[in-house]
Amino acid sequence: MSEFIIETNGLTRRFGRHVSVDHIDLRVPEGKIYGFLGANGAGKTTTIRMLLSLIRADEGSVQIMGRSLKRERESILRNIGSLVEGPSYYGHLSAYGNLKIICKLLELPEENIREVLDTVRLTPYAKQTVKGYSLGMKQRLGIAQALIRKPKLLILDEPINGLDPAGIQEIRNLMLALSHEQGITIFLSSHILSEIQSIADYVGIIQGGKLIFQDRMQELEKRNTVRLSIITDRPDEAYHALIRNGATTEKHGNELLVTVTGRMDQGEIFRILQPFSLQHVSEQTSSLEDIFLQLTGKGESL
Ligand SMILES: Nc1ncnc2c1ncn2[C@@H]1O[C@H](COP(=O)(O)OP(=O)(O)O)[C@@H](O)[C@H]1O
Ligand SMILES: [Mg+2]
Repeated sequence: MSEFIIETNGLTRRFGRHVSVDHIDLRVPEGKIYGFLGANGAGKTTTIRMLLSLIRADEGSVQIMGRSLKRERESILRNIGSLVEGPSYYGHLSAYGNLKIICKLLELPEENIREVLDTVRLTPYAKQTVKGYSLGMKQRLGIAQALIRKPKLLILDEPINGLDPAGIQEIRNLMLALSHEQGITIFLSSHILSEIQSIADYVGIIQGGKLIFQDRMQELEKRNTVRLSIITDRPDEAYHALIRNGATTEKHGNELLVTVTGRMDQGEIFRILQPFSLQHVSEQTSSLEDIFLQLTGKGESL
């Protein structure tokens, strides 16, 4: 059995000549929150639709819970709750009424309703008609609909999109609780780096249909670079000394920015700069945004 609850190999989807999802190998560990990050049009929804068997793949395979999605579609999908591109509901019915319909359809016990309403904190509004709900409440109803079958895996496509800060906080806390208290694996997509950073244990970055990064969130954060900002009495000469010795250096007016690496550590940089009098030295650490821009080649910002 694979340690991954979702594993894809070479998963590919084309629309006409455009390759929307290009041979991606997802590895989603069980019991964690996996953030699937990418700009608009990167291929997130197309990937998710294939994971849910809503559209077919042109190439590649999907294994979920160690089983082939192609061969065991029905039994796998029974264990997945999902929300893709917004909730669907009957506006003239209450949250309770909407969930009751789903229970009937899926032949689930009606007791589940109270529990999921509680989880998504809609109990006080359970009897009100949904059309009066805020966007955040509707989104929570969508998540309640996904949870009612008590899934092992929750797949959410941009669950935070369009919510106000309070709504975002609510969904974030809900996802953390589902993961930590109920052990549900959550696969969520977003085009907002900071949202993924604040919640995900693992991150996959998709750009132009290709998975360009996949690892623990800390590994992405570790990729940050440290640079020394240095002001000396003779910036031009110091700049040339650094370049001559192989240090990656930029010069902005009087300021020199020297990248610290294993080979070019701080001791080495100061040794090169010994002939100069240093007026100011400070350390600069790149932000996650910078790391992201480096990965994606600066062309695309989130
Ligand atoms: N049904 C479709 N027909 C044609 N092109 C599509 C279709 N669905 C998605 N695409 C294209 O595939 C690419 C990825 O889209 P999508 O998966 O929706 O991206 P994301 O969810 O990351 O914003 C886009 O270029 C989009 O135009
Ligand atoms: Mg999308």
